[in-house]
Amino acid sequence: MTDFRIQKIASLDLPELQPYATMRRPLEQERQGIFVAEGEKVVRRLLESRFEVVSVLLPNKHLESFRPLLAARPENLNVFLAEKKLLEQLVGFSMYQGVLAVGKIPPPISLDDVFQKSPTRSSTAAATRQEPKLFVAVDGLTSAENLGALVRNCVAFGVQVLIAGETSSSPFLRRAVRNSMGTIFQLPVIELAKLGQRHQFTTKPHTTKLTLVECLKELRGRGIRCIAAHPHTDKKFLSQADFSGDCCLVFGSEGDGISRNVLESCDEAVAIPMPPAVDSLNVGAAAAVFLYEVGRQRKTA
Ligand SMILES: C[S@@+](CC[C@H](N)C(=O)[O-])C[C@H]1O[C@@H](n2cnc3c(N)ncnc32)[C@H](O)[C@@H]1O
Repeated sequence: MTDFRIQKIASLDLPELQPYATMRRPLEQERQGIFVAEGEKVVRRLLESRFEVVSVLLPNKHLESFRPLLAARPENLNVFLAEKKLLEQLVGFSMYQGVLAVGKIPPPISLDDVFQKSPTRSSTAAATRQEPKLFVAVDGLTSAENLGALVRNCVAFGVQVLIAGETSSSPFLRRAVRNSMGTIFQLPVIELAKLGQRHQFTTKPHTTKLTLVECLKELRGRGIRCIAAHPHTDKKFLSQADFSGDCCLVFGSEGDGISRNVLESCDEAVAIPMPPAVDSLNVGAAAAVFLYEVGRQRKTA
């Protein structure tokens, strides 16, 4: 527990407020390795998490209810107080609650880290069997809102890691963090560096220099079955698929679905059957259906 510094702000000139003023320039924030959490619930979840928090910006009236959480933080936090009107002037749009925080995107994790940390089914000495692994990967998923919803599903159904492919958005974009309802603070993420950012000096510090195809190949080499969620296959429907062993589910983009090379890197493609008049489900909805089926088969849902 440490002290936090409260500063009432009357102007927007402080350099520490810069991240709040660049909320509409998410790439700039990502490059700096920071993200913005927005909304009372999401900011509370950030403060309860192990993520590093840089600062919090609140209207005066919220200070007392946040005080215990702020006091429990290990870092010396900057807490800025501002009336909602000034706050909206700073961020450039109107907000419902006006509660914001800046956190640091955690350093990259490797597949090795994930494999070492996979939980066991039970901690009793008799039951030493490993819980089957459940990973999710996304290919070309650019809608931050959909990605946030998918993150929420992943946490709800016990996914152990999310792999965000090089053509997908970052799950630390403000809208993704908001739509995940702060569950992103509980989910290990491997973010693959965007193409064109793989040079030593331009790669964001939290990303990993593998392509999704390479990553899936490595997973398969380690015995993880890679299963593409793909509406355009009549070879296997969801109820016929076997999720009892270690697996990684792969979901595609809103427009084009899973790209051909990623699809070819998977062991099989599985569809949720659709009537002829419906092309596909929203990716968040499809992920919920797949993950529920995994849990049903493993008796965890
Ligand atoms: C909106 S859909 C993509 C639709 C895209 N037009 C296509 O042709 O694939 C986004 C993603 O959700 C998943 N998805 C949606 N509906 C699905 C279904 N019926 N079966 C399996 N996966 C589905 C897939 O991973 C898909 O790539």
